[in-house]
Amino acid sequence: MPGLITMDDLSNDEIMSILDDAQRLLPVAEGRTYLPLLQGKILGNLFFEPSTRTRMSFETAMKRLGGDVVNLGDVKTSSVVKGETLYDTIQMVDGYTDIIAMRHPRQGAAQYAQDAARVPILNGGDGAGHHPTQTMLDLFTIRQAHGTLEGLKVILAGDLRYGRTVHSLSHALTRFGCELIFASPELLKMPAEIVNDLTKHGANVTETDELLGSIADADVVYMTRIQKERFADEDEYTKVAGAYKLHASNLEGAKENMIIMHPLPRVDEIHPSVDGTRHARYFQQAFNGVVARMALLCRLLGIKVPQTIADGGEA
Ligand code: NCD
Repeated sequence: MPGLITMDDLSNDEIMSILDDAQRLLPVAEGRTYLPLLQGKILGNLFFEPSTRTRMSFETAMKRLGGDVVNLGDVKTSSVVKGETLYDTIQMVDGYTDIIAMRHPRQGAAQYAQDAARVPILNGGDGAGHHPTQTMLDLFTIRQAHGTLEGLKVILAGDLRYGRTVHSLSHALTRFGCELIFASPELLKMPAEIVNDLTKHGANVTETDELLGSIADADVVYMTRIQKERFADEDEYTKVAGAYKLHASNLEGAKENMIIMHPLPRVDEIHPSVDGTRHARYFQQAFNGVVARMALLCRLLGIKVPQTIADGGEA
């Protein structure tokens, strides 16, 4: 069964319908209503790289919907250290589970896993490749704030070279006709093949090494962490570490309803002074991972989300 490896696996209509499902699932994610749509289903969590939000929100999503989760756990205590191949691990977990969420340091690993599995694979990040489930919660957050995904002006800032969240997100935003501004140091520019692909799909893209100049008319500012673990050379990292830092004082000229997003974890890209401003949306965004992943799990498992879900009131 096909999973979600890149955003190419979903049409715009499918994206909108999954976001609508996610919206209706909010009372379930907030624990006000119990709706065991996924009772009897098992999710396999296979995280070969560190993760807090993606792994935990998949687990929360599954459990809030009455399903169960089995975890590979720490790679160091699994058979991976004995030299088991990814192919063999997947073949076996495939038999234990109904669906698999996977994160792996190697770009392309999620597609490779999908080729080895009968159950759907949800790509929770493959090296510097893609992170489509993050994109779904990012789109949910943007639509929640602006009421639409169409025609917005979005700045993607920071590590556009290695940041997989911005690779998947820029692709999706282009399909909804957003104007994109890529702000990064020269060394961390969006890969040329991605920019070319976006341009081929009609994207309106501007590349700059300057972040603050574009903030005044942006609808969304999406900050990212410099992906230290992907640098071959520590000196290169030192050159760009701390390249962009957003402080509350930088937001004075911003539009009232501009939102600041970040897939998290942040290092020093967003100063805590921003947290209390009307623009900060990153913790809400992290919570939205639960509803977005609930909706994706239902969709890929062929379970329909009811049109009306009673809100049980206070959790
Ligand atoms: C991101 C990732 O793993 O790509 N984290 C996440 O899933 N929220 C971003 C990052 O690690 O910088």
